[in-house]
Amino acid sequence: MKAQMETHAVGQLTIEPRDQVTVLRIDRPEKLNALTAAFWTDVQTVLHRLEHDGRTRVIVLTGAGDKAFCAGGDIGDFAKLATLAQKRSFQADAMRGFAALENCPLPVIAAVNGLALGGGCELTLACDIVIASDHAQFGMPEAALGLVPGYGVLRAPDVIGRQLTKLMVMAGERLTAQQALTAGLVQSVVPHATLLDSAHALAERIAANSSLAHRIGKQLINRSIDRAQFDHSVEALTVLQSSDDAREGIAAFLEKRRPRFSPPAS
Ligand code: COA
Repeated sequence: MKAQMETHAVGQLTIEPRDQVTVLRIDRPEKLNALTAAFWTDVQTVLHRLEHDGRTRVIVLTGAGDKAFCAGGDIGDFAKLATLAQKRSFQADAMRGFAALENCPLPVIAAVNGLALGGGCELTLACDIVIASDHAQFGMPEAALGLVPGYGVLRAPDVIGRQLTKLMVMAGERLTAQQALTAGLVQSVVPHATLLDSAHALAERIAANSSLAHRIGKQLINRSIDRAQFDHSVEALTVLQSSDDAREGIAAFLEKRRPRFSPPAS
């Protein structure tokens, strides 16, 4: 396939070819790069194209603007998922998007330029290597919406341990870039102004090596990943998204008020 050499967009993703590296930018800064429902199929399409373009050896995923890498799924879109079938289809699409990153034969570097919350934090878990700006922050605050980060709960325990994952998932605890480095969620922290240059320099170093070795190495390193868990997570999230707590949590965010959740089941 002939490589498209000019910057172009697919939905909210801007695709910027730079020699052997392609920068994918989540480009919706006015909403802190929150992900529309279409993002999950768009990212699969874009990754498939890059895999076959005959040029790209390494991908850098980043966010537009200085404030956020990505503030997660668009909570307004969650409210529009009326039926169980729509909720299930949304969850399955999101999981396929994460899987596309996780399984992409090309190395993917996350260059985290700010807040990485919910789906944004989960995107970093799906990438191969994470570089963070010194003002990046990581969090999975879905419990405040009556939800759970369906991919993050599967992958974060391997990366940062079960208890820190629980602290993040239950309390919505955020990690600074430095804490994320200590926890193993991030591999290097750099001054904000140098983030993309640092990510690009690393990408060039990787690109100088064999793409075949990258492909096989990534497959072997990922060999312990249990993909059967994805289906359980999709089902659990579909049910959870239909709960009174999720309805209340999503409505509270959109109405800019504190949620009132039901008492624990007796
Ligand atoms: N979905 C939809 N819109 C979002 C969003 C999301 N996940 N995150 C931010 N936005 C929107 C805000 O609604 C706001 O839009 P508006 O200007 O039209 O009102 C805009 O982005 C800027 O965000 P704002 O909340 O005003 O910025 P802030 O600095 O006060 O707060 C956050 C930043 C990240 C703390 C806050 O936006 C937030 O809690 N976002 C949700 C994070 C989350 O729960 N993610 C997981 C989703 S599954």
